[in-house]
Amino acid sequence: MEVITEINKMRTRVLTFKGSRKSIGFAPTMGALHDGHISLMRCARKENDEIVVSIYLNPKQFDNKDDFDNYPRRLKEDIEVIREENVDVVFAPSNDEMYPVGYCTNVRQDRITDALCGRVRPGHFNGVTTVVTKLFNIVGPDRAYFGQKDYQQSAIIKKLVADLNMDIDIKVCPTVREEGGLALSSRNRRLNIEERQSSLCIYSSLLKARDMFVSNIRDTKEIIEEMSSVIKKTKHVKIDYISIVNICTLEDLSSINEKALAAVAVWIGNTRLIDNTILE
Ligand code: PAJ
Repeated sequence: MEVITEINKMRTRVLTFKGSRKSIGFAPTMGALHDGHISLMRCARKENDEIVVSIYLNPKQFDNKDDFDNYPRRLKEDIEVIREENVDVVFAPSNDEMYPVGYCTNVRQDRITDALCGRVRPGHFNGVTTVVTKLFNIVGPDRAYFGQKDYQQSAIIKKLVADLNMDIDIKVCPTVREEGGLALSSRNRRLNIEERQSSLCIYSSLLKARDMFVSNIRDTKEIIEEMSSVIKKTKHVKIDYISIVNICTLEDLSSINEKALAAVAVWIGNTRLIDNTILE
């Protein structure tokens, strides 16, 4: 496995892959890897000749300085974890490589970036679309792998490649959870024991939504109220949003016809966690 930190070297490597007609599968990450990230690498391994994983903690997508400062940085350990996964290249550029002095271009998407997390994290998704566009240009993947845990992000990336005519197949892999249902996240490391216990209410609220949907309840206000009461019973938790939205446009629904996304964001102490489920 090769670890590449320079864009030019990464491009040269990609040219050799393309020259030998090898397909490239790409999993972008911000590091502090867990089994959710690993699942993307394993999906990619099954479908491509060469696998590239990027580790880049993108400052542009952090709307909160504390969140950026406290984000776990574990590059050495991450590389060792990836080494076990039969990955071909780790691309881990520096900030100077990605945003050299004078950098002034951003990729902005409208509408679906305003929903859900976009409402409460101004600028966040423009940071994501900008860095992912750059990474796609550098790595030139045939397929790129994202997790359903960040459903809005994957919807935005699908729209990005469609709108900008990028010839990349976007694959969305299922959310990997701990035994109690908590979705794996690099931010989970910040939870203390009590907070970790409290965090289980997120998954319970999603299960509640699913139960109600299965019992033919279609009124979203009613479902959201019940989800909210599950979360409000729990200590240390503050609701950021609970929404039931159209799975493509992410617009709020008043009632569910065939399919919908139930999405939750909560603060557990100082840590913000998100999760979702598709109701169908
Ligand atoms: P990061 O939070 O490191 O996540 C990288 C990828 O792992 C994302 O596609 C995310 O949805 C996926 N992922 C995270 N937790 C998961 C879980 N429990 N199960 C399955 N997949 C999971 O998302 C980002 O980084 C960044 O925004 C990035 C796309 C790299 C751009 O900077």
